[in-house]
Amino acid sequence: MITDARARAGELEMSSELRADEGPGYIFEQFRVPRGCLGYLIADPETKLAAVVDPELEMVEPMLDAIFRHGLRPAYIIDTHTHADHVSGTRDLKSKTVAKVVMHEEAPSRSVDIRVEDGDRLHLGELPLKFLHTPGHAKDLVSVLLPGRILTADALLIGSCGRTDLLNGNATRQYHTLYHTYRALPDDLLVYPGHDYKGRSRSTLGDEKRDNEKMNFASEEEFTRYMDLENPKKLDPVYHLAEALKENMK
Ligand SMILES: [Fe+2]
Repeated sequence: MITDARARAGELEMSSELRADEGPGYIFEQFRVPRGCLGYLIADPETKLAAVVDPELEMVEPMLDAIFRHGLRPAYIIDTHTHADHVSGTRDLKSKTVAKVVMHEEAPSRSVDIRVEDGDRLHLGELPLKFLHTPGHAKDLVSVLLPGRILTADALLIGSCGRTDLLNGNATRQYHTLYHTYRALPDDLLVYPGHDYKGRSRSTLGDEKRDNEKMNFASEEEFTRYMDLENPKKLDPVYHLAEALKENMK
């Protein structure tokens, strides 16, 4: 009975997130902390090489557990951008693994081992990770394109996009990211964002192109005016901004 109950509890736990091994031939798991930050573990089942994306500090232990559970070899820790709202777990994870830290070439952090620019690729065995420079929320933001999926970080959220009024934000660049870079990608790509405050896991790019109000402004001018002037008044101040930035730039 205990075994059955544990099995059922296990099932529930897995169904509340994404099931490992789901998807087109690679391991993919999503991690969530109560504040709504989302991180990811991606791995090639053949070579067991793995990449961790946006490990928030509280995700480090659960991510290490998953790495151990699947018998993976962490090769890369990818921080999609210099986070201003929370402390990244990258340095903690780096100290516990042999993985190399990957960020955009403009990232100020001194912990970066591999600097990528738009169009660069890294591989986990045969599995390609392609980096797209998608600035606007932050100057150094990269999205990660995988077979059938895109990790959009704060460049594209479900039904919204990241704010552009913080350090290194730029509404004009964000417009280009949403209306040119993302609009040019296929509708059936699954979108996995860096945050979701309503408990959602994913969307599709087609749904975002159709329904996301931030992707449907009539002009660049209206979009930038909204992001620069109206949007900031609706947003909460970011607490601990200076500490988070100081820590994440180390
Ligand atoms: Fe962010």
